[in-house]
Amino acid sequence: MTLTEELERLRAEATDRLSKAHSADGVEKLRHDLLGRSGELTALMKQLGTVAPEERPIAGRLANEVRAEVERAIGERLEQLRGTDIEARLADEAIDMSAPGRPIAVGHLHPVASTMRDLREIFHAYGFEVFEGPEIETEEYNFELLNIPPDHPSRDLWDTLYVAEPGSVEAGESRPDPDGTILRTHTSPTQIRAMRALDAPIRVLTPGRCFRHDAVDASHGFEFFQIEGLVVDRDTSLADLKGLLEEVARALYGRDVRTRFRPGYYPFTEPSVAFDIGCLVCGGEGCPACKRSGWMAILGAGMVHPTVLRNGGFDPDEFQGYAFGLGPDRMTMLRHAIGDIRLFFSADLRFVGQFAEGR
Ligand code: PHE
Repeated sequence: MTLTEELERLRAEATDRLSKAHSADGVEKLRHDLLGRSGELTALMKQLGTVAPEERPIAGRLANEVRAEVERAIGERLEQLRGTDIEARLADEAIDMSAPGRPIAVGHLHPVASTMRDLREIFHAYGFEVFEGPEIETEEYNFELLNIPPDHPSRDLWDTLYVAEPGSVEAGESRPDPDGTILRTHTSPTQIRAMRALDAPIRVLTPGRCFRHDAVDASHGFEFFQIEGLVVDRDTSLADLKGLLEEVARALYGRDVRTRFRPGYYPFTEPSVAFDIGCLVCGGEGCPACKRSGWMAILGAGMVHPTVLRNGGFDPDEFQGYAFGLGPDRMTMLRHAIGDIRLFFSADLRFVGQFAEGR
C-alpha cells in the first residue's frame, strides 16, 4: 500500500472506530492511538520523508486533511457522548451532599401584628372574644350613635377621609360624601354594632385598621391600628377598667412598667380617661416619640356614655359598661424602642427583618 492509500484507509477507519467508542474515556484513548506521539497517523506522517519528491506535496496535503478531519470527528463524538454517556452525566449531575444548603427566606409577622396577637391572647385570658367591624363605615355609626352630633366641634378630633362615588367630586374639592360613607376614624363604631348584636354580659375586642386625615410625623400616621374593647354588664365600674388596663400593661411590658391615668375627654364615655406608659424609647427623659414628655399615651377609655348604651339597645339604669381604644402601633414602638411610627409602613425590609422572633 502506498502512503496515500494508507492515509485513505485510516480516514475511513477512524469514523468507524469513533462510532464504536461509547464513553469519553474511549474517545480519549482513540485520540491517543491515532494522534499521540506514537499514534498511527503520527507514524504515517513520519513516512512523508520517504515519498518521491513529486508526490510529497500531494501526500502531505492529504495527511494534514486527514488529521484535521479526525480531530474534528473526535470533538463531535465527545459532544455527542456528553448527552448519552451515562457516567459522564452522573458525574455532571451528582449532588454533593456535604455542600452547605442554600438559605431559604422565611417570612414572619410584622411587629405590629405580633403585638396585636399578644394583646388578643392577654385579653382572651380575661374573657374577651373578637368581634370585628367594617373599615368603611357610615357617619351615623362612626359619629352620631357615639354621641358626636353633626357640627359638634369634637368631630374635628376625628377629621376623616370620605368615600365618594367616582366622578361625584371634582378633583381637589373636599365635599363630604352625601351618603355619609367614610373610612372609620376609630374602632369605636363597633361598640354600637356589638351592643346591637349581642346580649349582656358583653366582653368583646375589635382589632382593626383606622384612617385619619392627619399630618404624618414621628407619632402619627394617616392609617393605623386600634383595638377596641367593650364590656357591658350589670355591675361594672371604673375600678374594673383601671385594674384590667394595669394588668394588661404589665403582661405586655413586664411588672416594672410605669403607668398613669389622666382625665380625658370623649363624647361617648363619661367619665373619660387617658392611659399612659412611661416612655420606653427614652426611659422617661423625653424624646420625639413621646413628644419630650417622658410618657406615651397608648389608649383612651372610659365608662360608656348613657346615650351610647341607649343607642346600643341597653337601659343605662340597669346596665353599665366601659370601653377602651388601644393603639397597637404606639404600643409596639414602646416595646421595641422604635423612635418613628413611619417605619411601620415604610416597607423597608431592613427594618421589618429585625422582628423575626414574632414568626
Ligand atoms: N375611639 C377613641 C379614639 O380613637 C378611643 C376610645 C375608645 C376612647 C373607647 C374611649 C373609649 O381616640
